[in-house]
Amino acid sequence: MADLFPYEEREKLSEKIISLFKNKNLYVTFGISGTDAVEIAIKTLFLYTKKEKIISFKNSYHGLSMGTIPLTNLKHFQNPFRKFLKNYSIEFEFPEKEEELEKLEKKLKKLNPSKIAGIILEPIQGRGGIKVPPRGFLKILYEFCKEKEILLVIDEIFTGFSKTGKDFCFQYEIDFPDILCLGKALGGGFPISACVGKKDIMKVWKVKGDPLYASTFLTHPLSIISSLYFLELYKKEKTLEIVKEKEKIFKKYLYELKDSNKIKDIRGKGIMWGIEFKEEKFALKIWENLIQKGFLTLLEGEKKNVLSFVPSLYFSEEKLKEIISHIKNSLRM
Ligand SMILES: Cc1ncc(COP(=O)(O)O)c(C=O)c1O
Repeated sequence: MADLFPYEEREKLSEKIISLFKNKNLYVTFGISGTDAVEIAIKTLFLYTKKEKIISFKNSYHGLSMGTIPLTNLKHFQNPFRKFLKNYSIEFEFPEKEEELEKLEKKLKKLNPSKIAGIILEPIQGRGGIKVPPRGFLKILYEFCKEKEILLVIDEIFTGFSKTGKDFCFQYEIDFPDILCLGKALGGGFPISACVGKKDIMKVWKVKGDPLYASTFLTHPLSIISSLYFLELYKKEKTLEIVKEKEKIFKKYLYELKDSNKIKDIRGKGIMWGIEFKEEKFALKIWENLIQKGFLTLLEGEKKNVLSFVPSLYFSEEKLKEIISHIKNSLRM
């Protein structure tokens, strides 16, 4: 019943989360998983705007519940459920090159905003294949949303807490979106997520009678305490400096592979990196070889051909060197 009866630590956690941002006029709603945080964001869009469509991006990942799959534009997750899904998503291309921004602006200009409740995006796509958009992307969406009174939702469940070299990736370009989704690292290993929204938007949840959002284990005290402890450590550690150092290490070793004719691209930011292989079969082989050597990595992207590295802040240079040497050996196969 922790979700119904607020207690001191839970309130403290809300305050601590808000203290991470310049904008203090915020309200935090907690979830158990990242998917929950996105669900809350989706419902907030519908409740607040009364409009029915949400723009999301190709290759995006926002969770796998029936509410979030329409926005998770990876077909292998959507297709088995397609005929049961309520399709409120309008899919846009996720720009990867600067020249694609112009196309995006043109498409936005043509859009009739009367049905659009919001736009949701990851500032760098994680499970979609570590895709880094060109600078200016967020600003374009931010300005568009402000002008058309559409809500901007940024999903930093993956990128949040300094993975990309800023506390939150949106801070490279904008002050604060209308709604921000946080998860993963937030719980310090325990299940908790947060949907952080501007107060005047989040007040739509205040209704008489039964709460519109509740769940048995929501804001479980262990998760709250773990998250409070994580945030305390996060403030103490010089995380951004560590990430800058680690980014240099990533560049040094990953770029050694750049000339291989089996590799299409190497990209990333901070401690979030991906190697895109030309052939899916080859990517799978490399991934299997790494597992056998005891290194757990993931294959991302629609084609599962992007080997991703999103390690803990404290990974050692030696380990990365070892991984790269295994990949080099496989590339010679
Ligand atoms: C960007 C993003 N959004 C949402 C989610 C869903 O979070 P969870 O798996 O905790 O439900 C993930 C999970 O990988 C994610 O990367």
